[in-house]
Amino acid sequence: MSFPANPFKPTAGVMPPVLIGRESVSLDFREGLDDGPGAPDRLMLITGPRGSGKTVMLTELGMIARSRRWEVIDETASDGLCDRLIARIAPEPSRIAGATIKPSVMGVSLGEFGIVPALRPSTLRDAMTARLRTLGKGRGLLITIDETQDASLEDMTAIAIAAQHMLRDNADVAFVFAGLPSLVSDLLNAKVLTFLRRASIKELGDVPLDDVRRALADTIRGAGVAINDEALDLATRATGGYPYMIQLVGYSIWRRARRRESTDGHAHGNAILTDDVKAGVEQARAKLGEGVCAPVVKQLSGRAVDYLRAMALDDGPSSSSDVAARMHESMDYANIYRQRLLDKHVIVAPARGRVDFAIPFLREYLRSTAADPNR
Ligand SMILES: Nc1ncnc2c1ncn2[C@@H]1O[C@H](COP(=O)(O)OP(=O)(O)OP(=O)(O)O)[C@@H](O)[C@H]1O
Ligand SMILES: [Mg+2]
Repeated sequence: MSFPANPFKPTAGVMPPVLIGRESVSLDFREGLDDGPGAPDRLMLITGPRGSGKTVMLTELGMIARSRRWEVIDETASDGLCDRLIARIAPEPSRIAGATIKPSVMGVSLGEFGIVPALRPSTLRDAMTARLRTLGKGRGLLITIDETQDASLEDMTAIAIAAQHMLRDNADVAFVFAGLPSLVSDLLNAKVLTFLRRASIKELGDVPLDDVRRALADTIRGAGVAINDEALDLATRATGGYPYMIQLVGYSIWRRARRRESTDGHAHGNAILTDDVKAGVEQARAKLGEGVCAPVVKQLSGRAVDYLRAMALDDGPSSSSDVAARMHESMDYANIYRQRLLDKHVIVAPARGRVDFAIPFLREYLRSTAADPNR
């Protein structure tokens, strides 16, 4: 019997075979929809580092809403976010007051649509109200915004004002914003966005290893491929509970086993052996380093990378004075790089005078490349 198709999905935004460890978020959202207007989980803020599963979480919540016959509008923050939302939500975009649409265009082409900034909140609100009317009783409207950290303060303000009115009016609407963890402090510091303080905040952290193990076992054995407990433990531990790494490890060990079996003439039947896991995990680590860490490191200056390398000597959060000392620099000088790295969301400051990596496995990557002067 030939080896089955690889079920793992190590690709940004693509649904994994099993969404591991996020049941509580889905449950809260489901209850939010079922409990009706005023339920706190109808306004949600999902945060997590790159590769933690924010985008697939939005997809999952969208599917939950659709299964309840809600309409779902998914947007990603970038210039023109609010106008794009309006154009997509309004049942008749061409009739929006204050909008400029090139007359030659049939329908609405997104680039042609613009609203006077001051009118954005009320126009967005009108668009939602009109859309809800076309949906009819019992059907609501879910709006999801991905990469919220890239939204302009102007757009976010308009969306927040409109959302706040809709929620206050007990309209059947829900909003889910997803973005990098830095978003929370950025947003909450902006006075005008105080309303987002009331959002239900879901931090997508590492997935418990027990859940990872079970999901790997179910996915692999469920597809008719054998794996022994030792190999399973090895694979589980290598993921560190980091969602993107779960897919990378699953994908690599599967591919490794399939290739081996095609060369050894299926001597072991359809099975992932311990050696396959060892080799697969190596490949997954390399892939993670190249795909996630290398691009981050490449865009940093030499001294900023030195700052990171000084941090990587610790197994957990570093003290910023230790880092400065290791760089043989003054605190003031080191703080310039500390601030740059914070601004770029490469590190976080978990407490006063402490810094830690914001990107999973960056520490391991820096350690593994420490000896290589070309990086
Ligand atoms: N709960 C989960 N269980 C298993 N795999 C997951 C889970 N969440 C996400 N993944 C996988 O992890 C990878 C990254 O997911 P996703 O693109 O949603 O992350 P993200 O947080 O949106 O990242 P980015 O910040 O780069 O946009 C994908 O391969 C996805 O299939
Ligand atoms: Mg994403």
